[in-house]
Amino acid sequence: MKLDAQEFKQRRQQLMDSMADNSIAILPAAPITSRNSDVEHPYRPDSNFYYLSGFDEANAVLVLMPGREHGEYILFCQEKNVEHEIWEGRRVGPDAAPEVLGCDDAFPINDIDDILPGLLEGRSRIYASFGISPEFDQQLMHWVNRIKRHMRSVVSAPHEFSALDHLLHEQRLIKSPAEIDMMARAGEITAQAHTRAMQRVKPGLHEYQLEAELMHTFMDAGAGWAYPSIVGAGDNACILHYTSNRSVIADGDLVLIDAGCELEYYASDVTRTFPANGRFTAPQRTLYDLVLAAQYAAIEQVKPGNDWNQPHDAAVKVLTQGLVDLGLLSGTLEQALEEQSYSRFFMHKTGHWLGMDVHDVGDYRVDGEWRLLEPGMVLTIEPGLYIAPDDDSVDEQWRGIGIRIEDDIAVTDSGHRNLTAAVVKEADDIERLIQG
Ligand code: GLY
Ligand code: MN
Ligand code: MN
Repeated sequence: MKLDAQEFKQRRQQLMDSMADNSIAILPAAPITSRNSDVEHPYRPDSNFYYLSGFDEANAVLVLMPGREHGEYILFCQEKNVEHEIWEGRRVGPDAAPEVLGCDDAFPINDIDDILPGLLEGRSRIYASFGISPEFDQQLMHWVNRIKRHMRSVVSAPHEFSALDHLLHEQRLIKSPAEIDMMARAGEITAQAHTRAMQRVKPGLHEYQLEAELMHTFMDAGAGWAYPSIVGAGDNACILHYTSNRSVIADGDLVLIDAGCELEYYASDVTRTFPANGRFTAPQRTLYDLVLAAQYAAIEQVKPGNDWNQPHDAAVKVLTQGLVDLGLLSGTLEQALEEQSYSRFFMHKTGHWLGMDVHDVGDYRVDGEWRLLEPGMVLTIEPGLYIAPDDDSVDEQWRGIGIRIEDDIAVTDSGHRNLTAAVVKEADDIERLIQG
């Protein structure tokens, strides 16, 4: 299940429609990074580059030139080379690129220094992602300076430089129906992975053994991970970015799993928290039900016209009221909200945009105000409570409990759709699932 060529074409057109007159956009592919000796990190294309091209090779540069008579979409890519392809894998090559990738022209990447300055001639504005790769910034200025030096009297060199990211990220923020379908599929696979982990958990396993169950489901479905899986048992659940996953899971522990697959470069991001032995203790259950109530209240606020922060406010209100009622926070609800005393136990926001990147692109404020939600946006809703194991200011029964519940929510015309609803989260359903 891949996105079709038409989808990529439509994206390029939409971007070109929003570019200024007489401009050019230039995007390099992500570099290959070394892990050690002859081993490289698995290659993952740059999201912007892939979003526009559907092309997953390194050593490539994508160029868009709205209005260019001889073709608006130009690609520089690696040439076919039998020897290299034996070692490193197949390449599309410039000859086949127009047919395979839908570009109007394709050239060998090794010829870019000769060809690109000619494309810049007479264009007044360059769109690019400046400041990410010093090498690319330098190469770009080198091309511009070459026109200035050699062609001063004949043509003008570009003299305006604009951040491509803003235009492109606004576009990526609103997902097409095909993107939502892909994210829903990623959500289903991730839901299956969490379900499998809950079915397999038992005291005595190592955290990494549950990570293995997640990876099995991801890879079996043709996906990989969107971010390193967090499997934290007991006190480890209170470490927000815990990824070592080396501890033994003890009887009586809660296990927090925050894991999501990446399918065709689209992320999912799900957290479930469950008792290793299949039964919540009373304090665990009390806090679990509170976080779940906060999550429902926040999801309820996801609808067009509400602003970005309304789900967070709703979650904070439910959590804070619960903490006051339980005596974990002193004073009234209003005081606790005003002083943000809840942030001792809930120290992150309730969510983030989700898309090709797990923390996806797109501004959260527009003109200083929280952004309004629109159909096609996808965000996570992930309230949590984390009571530090050494927090002796709270009753002992609460210490070392870490809970987060996270789903992926798409904004629809009429409200929202939970893309990750297929994995249970009611405490009774979780207990039933674990007990088999
Ligand atoms: N898994 C990263 C996050 O929840 O934001
Ligand atoms: Mn997460
Ligand atoms: Mn998240």
